Amino acid sequence: MVAVASPPPDQVKIQIRRLIKTFWSNGNPVEVLTGVDLDIYAGETLAVLGASGVGKSTLLHILGTLERPTGGELRWEGHDVFTLDDKDLAAFRNRKIGFVFQFHHLLPEFNALENVTMPALIARLPQIRAQELAEAILVRVGLKERLRHRVSTLSGGEQQRVAVARALVLEPEVLLADEPTGNLDPRSGARVQELILELNRERGLTSVIVTHNRDLAQVLDRRITLIDGKAVIMQGV
Ligand SMILES: Nc1ncnc2c1ncn2[C@@H]1O[C@H](COP(=O)(O)OP(=O)(O)OP(=O)(O)O)[C@@H](O)[C@H]1O
Ligand SMILES: [Mg+2]
Repeated sequence: MVAVASPPPDQVKIQIRRLIKTFWSNGNPVEVLTGVDLDIYAGETLAVLGASGVGKSTLLHILGTLERPTGGELRWEGHDVFTLDDKDLAAFRNRKIGFVFQFHHLLPEFNALENVTMPALIARLPQIRAQELAEAILVRVGLKERLRHRVSTLSGGEQQRVAVARALVLEPEVLLADEPTGNLDPRSGARVQELILELNRERGLTSVIVTHNRDLAQVLDRRITLIDGKAVIMQGV
């Protein structure tokens, strides 16, 4: 039997306790997350699995502080981040988190380079430096030939890779990615997967990745499945 050592508590990057999220639809409650408990360790790669509609994107949005929970706690390195006001929360996100949305949310009328440069400009990096960083990460996702193509003219898979590059341009501590390989052919998917693993090895990038892709889930350090609004830790799956 292989003993799996638990990382020490001081390496917990994000702590989730009794997390609840209820939406209201036509006056009726939709109880999506009903008490999620989860520790995410610094430098780990974690897959989030689960059936469609179970609340994976909802959990990721709350983890990324894009949405506030109905109840429970979310602590980043011990800090209750939802005590921050919206302005400070936006600055925290910009500095710490790279987010890949399930449906991209790119600016379609701007080119790939402009889309990826945007977070660096928001972070007040000089224009030239921001562009250098954007170009370098676009090359790493395989879009060297598409830098100045308008996003609306790119294929679904290319747009997804622009979204991955935009999430990574500021070298975030944590990558939160919602189906980052969902639209990709096997070769492009493998490239994105390799990039995430390389950044994890190179600089300890912590990644939480929602995916239906079993191959991707398998190469990550741990897997959890959302079932009935709660996180279930999978052993050896
Ligand atoms: N703003 C909202 N208002 C009302 N209900 C919502 C809202 N956002 C999400 N939901 C509901 O919450 C549930 C979970 O949605 P979520 O998008 O988190 O699922 P998911 O696990 O990411 O699904 P998929 O695998 O299809 O992407 C769904 O039933 C959805 O209809
Ligand atoms: Mg989703």
